[in-house]
Amino acid sequence: MTRLLLCLPLLAAVTISVAAAQEPAPDLSLLPAGPGRELVGAKCGTCHAIAIVVGQRRDRVAWEQTMEQMIGRGAEINDAEFAEISAYLGRNFAP
Ligand code: HEC
Repeated sequence: MTRLLLCLPLLAAVTISVAAAQEPAPDLSLLPAGPGRELVGAKCGTCHAIAIVVGQRRDRVAWEQTMEQMIGRGAEINDAEFAEISAYLGRNFAP
């Protein structure tokens, strides 16, 4: 019985690490190199695939409008991040 009780925390730890490993990593391979790349991966790849973002072509102002909509949907982006992401998207995913 004592041995079984000792095993339980171990089993729980294994279950948690397996769950963490299955968390989908944002697909940075779709994003061209440049300042803002990691930020876009971190901020725009959590609710949906990065493919949703890179499939679009918009100028910077239109990207800012898209980002406002994402913030309305719950994206957490501060002012500095907003500027860096919109510059990156406007530069790499322009019409
Ligand atoms: C809090 C969740 C969330 C985050 C974070 C998020 N989005 Fe979205 N996004 C959505 C939802 C919900 C939709 C609509 C459903 C769908 O198309 O999957 C969507 C759809 C989109 C679309 C397709 C629709 C359109 O307007 O053309 C684009 C492009 C997009 N998001 C860009 C972004 C960008 C850029 C970021 C990072 C700044 C981002 N999203 C972060 C929730 C989010």
